Amino acid sequence: PVLVVDFGAQYAQLIARRVREAKVYSEIVPHTWSVEQMLEKDPAAIILSGGPSSVYAAGAPFVDPKLFDAGVPVLGICYGFQAMARALGGEVAQTGLREYGGTEVEVCAAGVLLADTPDHQTTWMSHGDAVHRAPEGFEVLATSAGSPVAAFEDKGRRLYGVQWHPEVKHSAHGQTVLEHFLYDGAGLAPDWTPGNVIAEQVEAIRAQVGKARVVCGLSGGVDSSVAAALVQAAVGDQLTCVFVDHGLLRAGEAEQVERDFVAATGVRLVVRDERERFLQALAGHSDPETKRKIIGREFIRVFEDAARDIVAEAGEHGEEVKFLVQGTLYPDVVESGGGEGAANIKSHHNVGGLPDDLQFSLVEPLRTLFKDEVRAVGLELGVPEPIVWRQPFPGPGLGIRIVGEVTGERLEILRQADAIAREELTKAGLDREIWQCPVVLLADVRSVGVQGDGRTYGHPIVLRPVSSEDAMTADWTRLPYDVLSVISTRITNEVRDVNRVVLDVTSKPPGTIEWE
Ligand code: XMP
Repeated sequence: PVLVVDFGAQYAQLIARRVREAKVYSEIVPHTWSVEQMLEKDPAAIILSGGPSSVYAAGAPFVDPKLFDAGVPVLGICYGFQAMARALGGEVAQTGLREYGGTEVEVCAAGVLLADTPDHQTTWMSHGDAVHRAPEGFEVLATSAGSPVAAFEDKGRRLYGVQWHPEVKHSAHGQTVLEHFLYDGAGLAPDWTPGNVIAEQVEAIRAQVGKARVVCGLSGGVDSSVAAALVQAAVGDQLTCVFVDHGLLRAGEAEQVERDFVAATGVRLVVRDERERFLQALAGHSDPETKRKIIGREFIRVFEDAARDIVAEAGEHGEEVKFLVQGTLYPDVVESGGGEGAANIKSHHNVGGLPDDLQFSLVEPLRTLFKDEVRAVGLELGVPEPIVWRQPFPGPGLGIRIVGEVTGERLEILRQADAIAREELTKAGLDREIWQCPVVLLADVRSVGVQGDGRTYGHPIVLRPVSSEDAMTADWTRLPYDVLSVISTRITNEVRDVNRVVLDVTSKPPGTIEWE
């Protein structure tokens, strides 16, 4: 892999994504790893990310100069560039002149990195210190007002660096710079494609699972569907998908899974109607974490029941059900530190909390993938487009979109409001523009309204449309007023007990996407 060494801030993920967009496989590792640990991964190249520190700050992360003697091509970015310059004997100084945002750089030598890019280009910078003198043997490629050395390379040793952030779209030729490093600097080929990912995963799943049976909780969302399709491709009939109707679904979801997914993949599907069970378990609870844990626990109990039934049905020669498939994605693994034990954090996220006495081992074929990559793999596997492009919907479903206690009646209200919002957003052609739009019922809030000739005392519905690349950060989507207006009018007219529709205009952070 190409290792992206994370020096903090949020840059490493973005760099890893851009490398993969160049069809080269990348992984993120923490800067606390020793050079030996990194080399054990047999990296094809290493990228040192930006970070919030100054190389002068006490305790600033440091780069071991040994890294540059290993013969592995290295690209330093921003903080990584400065740390590299310093480790190799260059001079980094506090300039007092901060460059932040769009910054013009002047190319003085194209070299490998800046080949075929203009002499003057806009880059995105964010730094206080600057490299004043390149280390010995390095050629200076570019300068800017605040950075005497804004890019350098030592072609012979295959060491490269840029002060700006090529991973950010505001850097006009950023992707080109990354690709020059990967293809020309490090000699890598763009061969990491969905087809290869599938072939690799299929092999890995077969090795892990052997002859045992596997269950997969299918939610109808893209992650579980693609995970299921991969496992199906690997072990066929050993897989049984379980669709749990927990009563916290949106209108039409159970039908879509039965109709579209099964038709496309031929997967064996068991549908379990567990609406009563979840409602009973949730009765009397309004704390978000408690609700999540209850839902997660019940989910697993349902899978255990399903597993028992599957084995019973198979008769005495039936293999045991040993594995549970989870659609854990890479950002969840990274967020939880990237190491072992990461599974639990996403599992928690995925199904709302796994019990400690889990009887299954997890199969997580999407652990190395970002969402857009999961979609590409899904398309390649023939998963239907409405599922591949479906907006994210949390495992705990509408249960965490009712702020307050979950009851059958409240679910019905929210389901209707949600169906209206979704219908109007689709009609307006906005589905691909927004990442998702949670519709939330504030069940414990009431406000006064006037409907017909009478006073009402109803509940507000919150619309939470967000734009995002990976759900780690998000902004609220500026939906057209006329679309908002139609949604509001329809919800207040058509849904009983709702007399107000409000718009959530909070980014993430500080708000999360979901309200609970
Ligand atoms: P937050 O609310 O943390 O959500 O900003 C980030 C993304 O994750 C989804 N989400 C979940 N997905 N199980 C899931 O499968 C969960 O428990 C869960 N909680 C949040 C959320 O819809 C958003 O896309």
